[in-house]
Amino acid sequence: MKLSSLVTRIGGSRVDAWQIHAQANAAAARGEDVIVLSVGDPEFAAPQAVTERAAAALRAGDTHYTTIIGRVPLRERIAARHQAGCGQVVDMRHVVVTSGAQNALFVASLCLCEAGDEVLVPEPLYLTYEATVRASGASLVPVPVRPETGFRLDLDALRAAVTPRTRAIFLATPCNPTGVAMSRDELQAIAALAVAHDLWVVSDEVYASLVFDGEHVGIAGLDGMTERTVTVSSLSKSHAMAGFRLGWAVAPADLARHMGNLLLCMTYGAPGFVQEAACQALDDSDAVTGEIRTLYRRRRDLVCGLLADVPGLRCPAPQAGMFVMLDVRATGLPSSEVAWGLFRQAGVSVLDAQAFGPSAEGFLRMGLVVDDERLAEACRRIRRYMASLG
Ligand SMILES: Cc1ncc(COP(=O)(O)O)c(C=O)c1O
Repeated sequence: MKLSSLVTRIGGSRVDAWQIHAQANAAAARGEDVIVLSVGDPEFAAPQAVTERAAAALRAGDTHYTTIIGRVPLRERIAARHQAGCGQVVDMRHVVVTSGAQNALFVASLCLCEAGDEVLVPEPLYLTYEATVRASGASLVPVPVRPETGFRLDLDALRAAVTPRTRAIFLATPCNPTGVAMSRDELQAIAALAVAHDLWVVSDEVYASLVFDGEHVGIAGLDGMTERTVTVSSLSKSHAMAGFRLGWAVAPADLARHMGNLLLCMTYGAPGFVQEAACQALDDSDAVTGEIRTLYRRRRDLVCGLLADVPGLRCPAPQAGMFVMLDVRATGLPSSEVAWGLFRQAGVSVLDAQAFGPSAEGFLRMGLVVDDERLAEACRRIRRYMASLG
């Protein structure tokens, strides 16, 4: 039977990249000794107070349909947090609650872009962006960000990529997989470009609370950006709440209304007990996000320290996030081969970072998503495997 052209636009190599992760999970389920570092979801559970709030709401009968765009107390908290973070003055009219940041990205894409449009995205880019952008009919124009510059944005390349068809820039700061948090200067230059060419900016800030070195800057707070920015975030990374599927978009009020219309025919709102849990998470935010940031920083330092002198490998400390990028270019092998070899021969699953874009060929993305002891064991296995490559 005939399918729509959408299915080809949402398929492809980015989806295939998850195969190693699926196989690693299957091997772990069979009881094999695999250390799964191929996903951005840590081994520790969501904060207990959050889980208890969700459970209490469920027990109290919070099992019905809710407000499609999110309950007022939650949207008020999100608006307050956003405003405190980047300085953009917003209220709950600017906020829609979504099923994770991913849903917010998708909704933004469909409400902003269409066939014939071009969307600029720094590459390497988060795996889902391609399908998210292409689902709208627009084409994604990657703007390479090279390892030689520490994966920092090449502003000239970004400027050169703008055409009359450019509709939007999608960016992630801090970035997955590179861990780069864009500086105020870089964001100001992007903002100037967006204003000059009347572009939207969709700013994915799910790792905002995980900046170790430097500061997080939200582009929405910069001059001229308030009417052209959609800020996307969630509790998945900051609060280890990936399974709650709770995120949001902060957008101009008119756009937020259209996004609400799309959610009406898409998810029909986030579960009420999840929204109650999200209120608890935001009330406890400073303490929780501080603890989680400290934990990832410690894991980052542990891994970068243990891998510092492994022949054939470099492990520069990322500025932010929950991943390290292992540079295996010195092996002369494709990173996919190293990733599969590491999984099959050493029982450590990481992602071939090339899946995030050709600029990351020769890198592996390793998640800091198991405890210190398992991370240390993963590092020992990586050392042995690298030695076996000669
Ligand atoms: C850059 C980036 N954006 C969005 C997401 C999706 O987050 P959520 O779980 O909130 O949908 C992820 C998840 O890994 C991510 O790394």
